[in-house]
Amino acid sequence: GLVNTREMFKKAVAGGYAIPAFNFNTMEQMQAIVMAAVETKSPVIMQVSRGARNYANPTILRYMAEGAVEYAKELGCPNPEIVLHLDHGDSFETCKSCIDMGFSSVMIDGSSLPYEENIALTKKVVEYAHQYDVTVEAELGVLAGVEDEVVAEESHYTKPEEVIDFATRTGCDSLAISIGTSHGAYKFTPDQCTRDPKTGKLVPPPLAFEILHEIEEKLPGFPIVLHGSSSVPQDCVDTINEFGGKLPDAVGIPEEQLREASKSAVCKINIDSDSRLAMTAAIRKYLAENPSHFDPRQYLTPAREAMKQMYIHKIVDVLGSNDKL
Ligand code: G3H
Ligand code: 13P
Ligand code: NA
Ligand code: ZN
Repeated sequence: GLVNTREMFKKAVAGGYAIPAFNFNTMEQMQAIVMAAVETKSPVIMQVSRGARNYANPTILRYMAEGAVEYAKELGCPNPEIVLHLDHGDSFETCKSCIDMGFSSVMIDGSSLPYEENIALTKKVVEYAHQYDVTVEAELGVLAGVEDEVVAEESHYTKPEEVIDFATRTGCDSLAISIGTSHGAYKFTPDQCTRDPKTGKLVPPPLAFEILHEIEEKLPGFPIVLHGSSSVPQDCVDTINEFGGKLPDAVGIPEEQLREASKSAVCKINIDSDSRLAMTAAIRKYLAENPSHFDPRQYLTPAREAMKQMYIHKIVDVLGSNDKL
């Protein structure tokens, strides 16, 4: 069945790699995630946001994740390690409902609350979740960008001086931190970036690795999570723009920095936007080249394949979670 993140994170921190946390809303995303994880022998976290639950229905998503485990076995992986995780849980009630439904991991995102309220809420979720062996991700610090339709006006980095107190008092199993990543396909405005003199492409500001390292010193071996870690592949953006889309100046986190982060206590890296971009690029291209086709299976087949290749690339070339099953 589904597993929680406890052993997975312990091994990832010790082994210097990160587990991919891919968001899913559709059957094709689920299938692509499972195919990629099986082919690379990688553990994987399948996560659902509030938007995903509204779009697809929580019960359907829960059974899709259980189906994912069976599908992985059918594809030849006898012992798949698949987590079904609630992404950005907004209240105790949401977390409880997912735990009661069979999720193996939840996030309670109290990062927008005052510090003491974040602690109280997180602690309450931890106390409930641990009775069912469900692991809990918490968050300290505020990311920039759009998250579940909420735009953070001002981001601020996680304060390293708070993390020991927070982790100890809440009992959370992992901690999402803010070191400069952000949600969505527009992580930085052009004026926050520099331009590569040769290519003219936007170069985003580097992540605050010094803050990550301070946090690692305070909480040795404690599992750290990075949200907002899509790299917004330029080839996807170019394909989308070539075939009728309009995504000017979309920019993500350079993969080199995620590769570096994966070697640290960062053991979960969240990727959603890159899947959306891969899917949309493939569909736009397919429909532009095959204007008479109208069977969704025709354009969703290359879309699913594009997502699968993107997931494999992240696992093998960026996070290093391959060959761990
Ligand atoms: O937190 C952001 C995730 O990418 C989920 O996005 O709320 O649009 O499903 P969503
Ligand atoms: P991206 O928008 O960078 O893919 O981030 C996804 C995320 O953090 C989901 O919680
Ligand atoms: Na790591
Ligand atoms: Zn997130």
